Amino acid sequence: MVSQSSRTALVTGCSSGIGREAALRLHQAGLVVYATARRPGTLAGLAEAGIRVLALDVTDEASMVAAVQAISASHGQVDVLVNCAGFELAGAVEESPAAEVRRLFDTNVFGLARLTQLVVPGMRVQRYGRIINISSVFGRFAVPGGAYYAASKHAVAAFSEALRLELAGFGVRVVLVEPTAARTRLNVNTVWASDAADGHRLGRRRRSRPLRRVPPGPGPLARPDLRRAAAQYRRAARGVR
Ligand SMILES: NC(=O)c1ccc[n+]([C@@H]2O[C@H](COP(=O)([O-])OP(=O)(O)OC[C@H]3O[C@@H](n4cnc5c(N)ncnc54)[C@H](OP(=O)(O)O)[C@@H]3O)[C@@H](O)[C@H]2O)c1
Repeated sequence: MVSQSSRTALVTGCSSGIGREAALRLHQAGLVVYATARRPGTLAGLAEAGIRVLALDVTDEASMVAAVQAISASHGQVDVLVNCAGFELAGAVEESPAAEVRRLFDTNVFGLARLTQLVVPGMRVQRYGRIINISSVFGRFAVPGGAYYAASKHAVAAFSEALRLELAGFGVRVVLVEPTAARTRLNVNTVWASDAADGHRLGRRRRSRPLRRVPPGPGPLARPDLRRAAAQYRRAARGVR
């Protein structure tokens, strides 16, 4: 039997938040951890803690392949994959630019799925693996203004359910994590579709690239009722439908 200390974990989205914390906890638990981020400079603190770091952008096929190959070359296979990289797109369906919606799904869904494809063969052959997909409570329901984010997280939930059944006979377990509210950089990193006020990204992204405005359609825009959405969110978090 392979001891826990020789297990290898690959974690995405470790520049901040849940991914960073997961990398630290797995390292403390004795696993060989590869913390990854699309900006490797953000991983300096984890490297200082003795964690191996790699560049990995989940929307970049070459960087995913290179990261998995680098780990395989040193350790044979990835035993634990934590798919954490993701972001939130907020705004009405009608005003969310198609390019941002595609980027959301490329990151939250297709990146997670592709990385899973890359590690599953090794896990299946060795008959051991853990795939931990970070979805959201918004993988269970949706609120106005969160259609695309919730759709991406519903996709992660469905993907994980099917994958769990596919791999059940191979010693590979699939775990779906559905956080409610964790204090991370998710809100700062949220991309907002244009609205009447300014139509720019919040936080550090505001200065980088304003969103393209979508020409207004006929009639009043279906703007999210945020107060109602918040009440719905609180009820759902308490398990009330
Ligand atoms: N915090 C919450 O309340 C909450 C609730 C439910 C679900 N979640 C989910 O938890 C996961 C982690 O989010 P968080 O709360 O920890 O937020 P966070 O602090 O913003 O972390 C998100 C991470 O994803 C990375 N990322 C984004 N796009 C990427 C890409 N193309 N390739 C690689 N990495 C990328 C970010 O890197 P950069 O620094 O380069 O942007 C960052 O490291 C997300 O999937 C989120 O949807 C969070």
